[in-house]
Amino acid sequence: MGSIPVKRIAAERSGKPFRMDRTPRSIRSSPYQEVLKYATENNIAVESLPSRWIRYGDAILLNLQGDIAAQRKIAGAYARSIGVSSVYRIDGGIRGIQREPTLRLIYGPGGEITHLENGIRFVFDPARIMFSPGNVNERVSMKSFPASGKKVLDMFSGIGYFSLPIAKYQNPEFVQCCEINPLSADFLQKSAEVNGVDGTIRIFRGDSRTFSSQFLYDIVIMGNFQSTIFFVKALSLIRPGGHMIMHHLVSTDRLGDIATALMRRIARYSLSAEIVDSHIVKSVAPNYYHVSTTLRISQR
Ligand SMILES: C[S@@+](CC[C@H](N)C(=O)[O-])C[C@H]1O[C@@H](n2cnc3c(N)ncnc32)[C@H](O)[C@@H]1O
Repeated sequence: MGSIPVKRIAAERSGKPFRMDRTPRSIRSSPYQEVLKYATENNIAVESLPSRWIRYGDAILLNLQGDIAAQRKIAGAYARSIGVSSVYRIDGGIRGIQREPTLRLIYGPGGEITHLENGIRFVFDPARIMFSPGNVNERVSMKSFPASGKKVLDMFSGIGYFSLPIAKYQNPEFVQCCEINPLSADFLQKSAEVNGVDGTIRIFRGDSRTFSSQFLYDIVIMGNFQSTIFFVKALSLIRPGGHMIMHHLVSTDRLGDIATALMRRIARYSLSAEIVDSHIVKSVAPNYYHVSTTLRISQR
């Protein structure tokens, strides 16, 4: 593309005629168009052909319906078009406190994948571990949350959604993770090694309410919608002046109330707090929002 103007300028200056390159170039059709074409040509009847998918490393997640043989063919066509090995059908939401996905492997070998996001390699099995595409900005923001030389506690670390970006980009003294799901804890350990931060990440395998520590933490992260239930524990582990990053569910009518409600709650423990930031992450149900709030905790 860049050569045409240069050639033209050179030709204009020299007074010689120039020839435009009119070679037709093919524009690659989208995977959706390719799969639609494949389905039409092969008379594959699908109830509704998905036009969107979620990609994690070498796997994609799709909404598929109807005849299972047709689903497999469509899944295979998507895999070839996108260039992945495995295709999962999304069968439901995320289950239980350990946040397990409801997926069915429709095509390919399945198993462990490595998903690259924001320079971090997350190793996990999409069929067994949730990874929320809607929280990408939250994971990315952890990359620049100031934590150099700090002690960080991640009370619901999962596979390291927040811990790995902090450990990799912020040079903290260490990141103490708590994770109740043994499989997630295993993937976290693996991802820490793959990202070269296993010397910074420490893992407590169990309920964060039973975690005890000789330290107070500069930063406490609570990536759990029920984080207010874990408030007491978090407050007992944070040092005065420390930051608490909490994720909570807030109904539309309470959005304007967040600061007052949190302050009232914190005051019960003879502490005070200032809100450094509070923002909506995403809508999760009619009239409910996933909100992230960062507080600076101090003694009263
Ligand atoms: C909602 S997931 C984290 C999702 C993540 N924020 C994301 O961006 O995708 C919360 C994690 O906390 C773990 N968990 C739940 N209750 C826990 C507890 N009491 N102690 C430690 N971990 C817990 C779950 O197993 C899960 O891995």
